[in-house]
Amino acid sequence: MQPPPVITIDGPTASGKGTIAQRVAAALGWHYLDSGALYRLVALRALETGTDPSDEAALARLAAELCPRFSDGRVELDGRDVSDEIRREDVGVMASRIAVHPRLREALLALQRGFRQPPGLVADGRDMGTVVFPDARLKVFLTASVEERAERRHKQLREKGFSGSIADLLQDLQARDARDSNRATAPLRPAEDARHLDSSDLSIEDVVAQVLRWHGEG
Ligand code: DC
Repeated sequence: MQPPPVITIDGPTASGKGTIAQRVAAALGWHYLDSGALYRLVALRALETGTDPSDEAALARLAAELCPRFSDGRVELDGRDVSDEIRREDVGVMASRIAVHPRLREALLALQRGFRQPPGLVADGRDMGTVVFPDARLKVFLTASVEERAERRHKQLREKGFSGSIADLLQDLQARDARDSNRATAPLRPAEDARHLDSSDLSIEDVVAQVLRWHGEG
């Protein structure tokens, strides 16, 4: 039996991949995996327990014990709704720092692959097309200029009531891009068979339409 089909959408921080992946999933009636949320959940746990971000064994344990519940765009950890907390900038930075550890990444693999359920899955992250779902039928690598991404993130954070200057965000994004792209294990990198899409000058609707067109061609 064929496993359910997967569309992967990988790209740097704030490239819009979450929004696009959710809309594509909704349009197709497929499941959605926000893999970054899993790294953020481990990061939140690490911050709360005072775990050293260089302690790979302890972080891998936290990841292996992770039992999140996703429903209606919210995520619960041990019965507590942490959807807003995991979006904090300090949690994002911690997620990027701990994501360098191969054993932690390994511990999250089965959890991620468990989202592959009929009728299909749209998964967003950094290594969805290269490591987690290498047999995906459509792989998209979504980018946008760092300035555009800083503006988008700034707007997003303001809407959520968080503060922060664009200059700080820009610096943070550049540091995170560098860390995510240069790590030894599963770095942010397009799969060889990925379709590239620069969303800097495109609307969300345009990007969703392009992904659905590619899907229709496949
Ligand atoms: O997509 P995001 O900003 O929510 O992800 C937060 C961090 O998690 C990101 O900076 C790196 C890490 N991450 C990863 O290493 N691999 C993924 N598939 C998704 C996220």
